[in-house]
Amino acid sequence: MKMVRFALWIVVALVLVGVGSRFFLQNDGPALTSGPGGNFTLTSHTGEVVSNTDFDNQYMLIYFGYSFCPDVCPLDLQKMSVALYQLEEEGYDTTPIQPIFITIDPERDTVEELASFMPDFHPRLIGLTGTPAEIADVARKYKVYYAKREQPGTDSYLMDHQAYQFVMGPGGEFLRIFSSRDKPQDIAAAFGSILEKR
Ligand code: NI
Repeated sequence: MKMVRFALWIVVALVLVGVGSRFFLQNDGPALTSGPGGNFTLTSHTGEVVSNTDFDNQYMLIYFGYSFCPDVCPLDLQKMSVALYQLEEEGYDTTPIQPIFITIDPERDTVEELASFMPDFHPRLIGLTGTPAEIADVARKYKVYYAKREQPGTDSYLMDHQAYQFVMGPGGEFLRIFSSRDKPQDIAAAFGSILEKR
């Protein structure tokens, strides 16, 4: 009987540890019924093949957008960059976080195009592109809506898309999202508790 009670306390303790480690990244963004995420293999802005499994020991901070975006995407990527810079200025080692930008406009966002776009942001931000089918697959897994919107009278177009930053834990589990309402300080604060100072 004593052994049973002891075993129960171990279960309770393990559950509490689990709850505690999740607390810092609790999702207070828009409610999602089932977790986004899944495998991807895409091409980086430096021409390398990149898979989610390359970051199995890191936290992925993933943003879906496109480089021709006139407003939200550059702002959100800047916000992501500022959060990392802020953590670094506070003395944190941010290498456990891998910032990632996945284009939802593979037609225009070629490797070359992304290569010229990425230097505007944090130096560790990786830009990813792929075939339209590869991009559709990863967007579906992350439940990200996007669609082409033609601009009447021009041969140009915009992309309608959701603007979320997904936080995926080591091993790829979904932890939370940041929306356009979150500030760099909010992102930095959420990560501060899991990073170590240099
Ligand atoms: Ni955009």
